Amino acid sequence: MAAPKTLIAGNWKMNGLRADGVTLAKTVAAGAPGVSAKADLLMCPPATLISLVANTLAEALRHGLVSIGGQDCHHEVSGAHTGDVAAPMLTDLGCGYVIVGHSERRTNHSEDDPMVWQKAVAAQLAGLIPIICVGETEEERDRGEALDVVRRQINGSLPDAAKAANVVIAYEPIWAIGTGRTPSLDDIAEVHDAMRALLTDRLNDGDGVRLLYGGSVKPGNAAEILALANVNGALVGGASLNAEDFLAIAAAA
Ligand code: PGA
Repeated sequence: MAAPKTLIAGNWKMNGLRADGVTLAKTVAAGAPGVSAKADLLMCPPATLISLVANTLAEALRHGLVSIGGQDCHHEVSGAHTGDVAAPMLTDLGCGYVIVGHSERRTNHSEDDPMVWQKAVAAQLAGLIPIICVGETEEERDRGEALDVVRRQINGSLPDAAKAANVVIAYEPIWAIGTGRTPSLDDIAEVHDAMRALLTDRLNDGDGVRLLYGGSVKPGNAAEILALANVNGALVGGASLNAEDFLAIAAAA
C-alpha cells in the first residue's frame, strides 16, 4: 500500500478570540492550495471558535482544502456533563476529526487509556476520525520505557473498529510539547516503526494508518521529521498559531 498522505494538524489549544480565529483560519485557507499536493491541513480551534471557523471556511471545507477538528470530546452523546462537548456536536459543526487523549487532557483532567478508548469509540460512532495521542514522560524515556508506554497506550485506547480510514495516532513525547526540545530523529523513527509494527499486527490495513509526530514541530525541523519512513504528518501546537509557520511546515512535507 502507498504511504498515506501527509496530515498537518494544528492544535490551537486554549488560544484565540473570534477575531484571531477568523484571521488565522482565513490565512491558512488562503495558503492551502499551495500545499495541498503535499499535505492535508487540519485546524483544531477551541470549541468556542469551531462554528465561526467552519462558517468562515465553508467554501474551503466544501472543496476539501482544509478540515476542522475538536480538541476533545465526551464519550457520551448527550447528558448531564456540564462544560463537556459530545462527539456528535462536533460533527454537527462540520468537524471531521477530534483529538483524544492529548497529554494535557491526561495530565490536567486525569484521563486514562480506558477513558481515551471510550472517547475514540464515541468519535468514530459520530463519524469523526479520532487522533489518539500517546507519548512518554521524560522520566519514562530516561528509564528506557518509551516504547512500552506507547504500546500500552495504543493497545489501551485503539477502538476495535479501527482501520486506516477512521483513526490517526499521534506520538507526542510529553517532554517535547511546548518546550522547543525534540527527540533525535533516530528516537522518533524507533517509536514510529514500533507503532507501525503494532498496527500492522493488529489491523488488516495497519500500514495505512496515519502516524503523526507532535512536540515542538516548527518550520526549521519539519522537513527532516516528516521525511522519516513511518511519520505521516505532524500535530503542531505553538507553530499552528502562526499561519505562515503552519503552512511552511506543510510545505516541508
Ligand atoms: P507544541 O505542541 O507544538 O507547541 O509542542 C504540540 C501539541 O501539544 O500537540
